[in-house]
Amino acid sequence: MILVTGGCGFIGSAFVLRWLAQSQEPLLNLDLLTYAGHPGNLAAVQGDARYHFCRGDIGDAALVAKLLAEHKPRAIVNFAAESHVDRSIADPLAFARTNVMGTLGLLQEALAYWRALDAGAAAAFRFVHVSTDEVFGSLAPDAAAFSETHPYQPNSPYSASKAASDHFVRAWHHTYGFPALITNCSNNYGPRQFPEKLIPLMVHNALRGLPLPVYGDGQQVRDWLFVDDHCSALEAVLERGRVGETYNIGGRSERTNLQVVHTICSVLDELRPQAHGAPHAQLVKHVTDRPGHDRRYAIDDRKIEAELHWRPAVAFEQGIRATIEWYLANADWVESVTSGSYRQWVERQYKGLAKAA
Ligand code: NAD
Ligand code: DAU
Repeated sequence: MILVTGGCGFIGSAFVLRWLAQSQEPLLNLDLLTYAGHPGNLAAVQGDARYHFCRGDIGDAALVAKLLAEHKPRAIVNFAAESHVDRSIADPLAFARTNVMGTLGLLQEALAYWRALDAGAAAAFRFVHVSTDEVFGSLAPDAAAFSETHPYQPNSPYSASKAASDHFVRAWHHTYGFPALITNCSNNYGPRQFPEKLIPLMVHNALRGLPLPVYGDGQQVRDWLFVDDHCSALEAVLERGRVGETYNIGGRSERTNLQVVHTICSVLDELRPQAHGAPHAQLVKHVTDRPGHDRRYAIDDRKIEAELHWRPAVAFEQGIRATIEWYLANADWVESVTSGSYRQWVERQYKGLAKAA
């Protein structure tokens, strides 16, 4: 069996659903169920005998040791993290706790477990650490895309915490020979993304006729990766990646934020026009920029294509339409995750920005 952490979040749940749809191998999901973790994301596999769930913290050494001893996984895929840049600006210590200390605690227990395995099981064991392209910092408009050897230059508390976790994972391999691999991927989008992130927030607000808050000039560039493509890349890294290596994963879909928002607006104009007929783009509102906002991320994915024969399969225009259709068809899900605490976050994050714009 494999152990997945953070499997109730956006990417983790896509990975779990895909895994259990494709493989007979059981899976244990360790998730703390923070504001970002929703057991409903995995409703489709509740009751499946291959699916096991434990609510808990990756940094809880006793719990992790017990789970490893009981379930004896052949691999760990570590998704668990605090993941939202704006929240990291508001509360950086939470990011240090989970992304740095939590990952370190998980590594410690995984190392002890791996060392006690017999030779065959130890040779087959893998620890895949899911990280981000944000650790590389920001690119000029015409600069070459991030390769795996690009220097680490994290700019936000979030990316600094992920960079720290990457360094520990790397050190575990270098010092102890621990069979770890790191992936650095670009912005994911798709079903079940919490509506604090750009794409689901814009869909959520547009459907309610609320302002679409674009930070600064909206010319920041991200490389959008459909979440199922990310999961297939992680499977390739888990099964065929070389131990001790890092792999960049991207969507080959660089877009400015304004391009993304306008695409969402035109798809919604077609699928769910406003009652009064006005285009959704009229809701766009430029607000105060994010502090330290990275201008551009772009991924050079030649290594994963050459070594593991992986490339993204979903074009942005196809993926964004499928994503918007999913949100339109799953209003109950949106309702269930946009509770009081979500509303408090939105109030706190956007009230001041709009006034200052
Ligand atoms: P998410 O915020 O949607 O989900 C995170 C999950 O981790 C939640 O289920 C949460 O309950 C769980 N969690 C948080 N702290 C935990 C802890 N201490 N112990 C156990 N579980 C805990 O995140 P996501 O967008 O699905 O991202 C998953 C991973 O991918 C993260 O490591 C993130 O840094 C990385 N990543 C995300 C993106 C993206 O675009 N979303 C891009 C690159 C990398
Ligand atoms: O690049 C990978 C990273 O992508 C992941 O590591 C992070 O976990 C993930 O959250 C994401 O980070 P970003 O900061 O790029 O994603 P976010 O959706 O928050 O913002 C995308 C862009 O949109 C960014 O330039 C900020 C901008 N934005 C975002 C929000 C929420 C807005 O203009 N308005 C908004 O309201």
